Amino acid sequence: MIIKKPPMGWNSWNTFGGEVCEKVIRDTADAMVELGYKNAGYEYVVIDDWWSERKRGADGKIAVNKEKFPSGMKALSDYIHSKGLKFGMYSCAGTMTCGGFPASFEHEYEDAQMFADWGVDYLKYDFCYKPMHAVGKLLYNKMSMALKATGRDILFSACNWGADDVETWIRSTGAHVYRSTGDIFDHFESVKFIAQSQFDKINYSATGCYNDMDMLICGMYGKGLVAKGGCTDAEYKTHFAMWCLMQSPLMIGGDITNMNDYCRNLLQNKGLIAINQDEDGRPPMMVNWNKDRPVFFKHMANGEYVLALFNLSDEDGMVGCEFFDIGVSADHGFDFVDAISGEKIGVVSENLYETIPAHDCRVYRGKFVRV
Ligand code: GLA
Repeated sequence: MIIKKPPMGWNSWNTFGGEVCEKVIRDTADAMVELGYKNAGYEYVVIDDWWSERKRGADGKIAVNKEKFPSGMKALSDYIHSKGLKFGMYSCAGTMTCGGFPASFEHEYEDAQMFADWGVDYLKYDFCYKPMHAVGKLLYNKMSMALKATGRDILFSACNWGADDVETWIRSTGAHVYRSTGDIFDHFESVKFIAQSQFDKINYSATGCYNDMDMLICGMYGKGLVAKGGCTDAEYKTHFAMWCLMQSPLMIGGDITNMNDYCRNLLQNKGLIAINQDEDGRPPMMVNWNKDRPVFFKHMANGEYVLALFNLSDEDGMVGCEFFDIGVSADHGFDFVDAISGEKIGVVSENLYETIPAHDCRVYRGKFVRV
């Protein structure tokens, strides 16, 4: 299986944590279709940790928690597929998952087959309780091969939180996406910390294997498992724009059955999603190397370019760059539209500087033109 775009979907962890259950998954799958998410490109519905019993069953398999998932995983998978969506599940490379449930260490081939038998299309594979003597790279390689051996197309999402210089070897294991940071929390400090930690690693994300900056917190507003005070609308916009630009998977972590209009529209924003899903898969170039007020420039497959200005600092202030710092001479410029609102901006040449409020951003997209 080769992936040409970062995956898009929803994951239960950020909002529901250990409360994940069949009803949540069914309601989410319904909302995904009825509220426009599927049309916008979201397709995977992923159950994270806390779906099983505390011990493997007598048959040696991971036993589904029947109270939480009374119909079982195959029926749930069929339901998700009946909506034209894809089904994702979670396990871990260690002896237990992070929540202390049975994991796949030394059960890789049998667990992979069980997931395939359930019709799983996506496996998130965590890193807790990894025995010290075991090499993470080989554990990811092993599960990747176990999934391929089932003959089913299963997107393999490695989640070792950026440990062991993962970006330098993960592609060789066959993983399709890899978590490059620790867990996200629902406040702007976390968004900023994760974003800044990836600025010097953006070239390790490309078609076939993308850098996963963790599930989105848009729309949580301080409610749910990873809540830490919440963000403002502008902060959620900056978060989503940054994840789109860095071509991170777009896995919604908020409750889409109960999302306000602002964040539903944001998560379905066509302009930002087009940047994220660009098939050329080129990471952006960081133009000014100011970690608090970064400016990024990106080539798009259709011949257009993106210029994105972020103010991650706590003060309103000027963000921008001289176009000669991208290699553009004074007789050329860009015919920009605002990539988020679609508003026409017109031709801009020589430089672009704007006063941007703290924690806000601007994203422009357009053709390179002679002026
Ligand atoms: C780790 C992962 C999270 C989530 C939890 C589940 O912390 O990084 O994304 O999967 O485990 O316990």
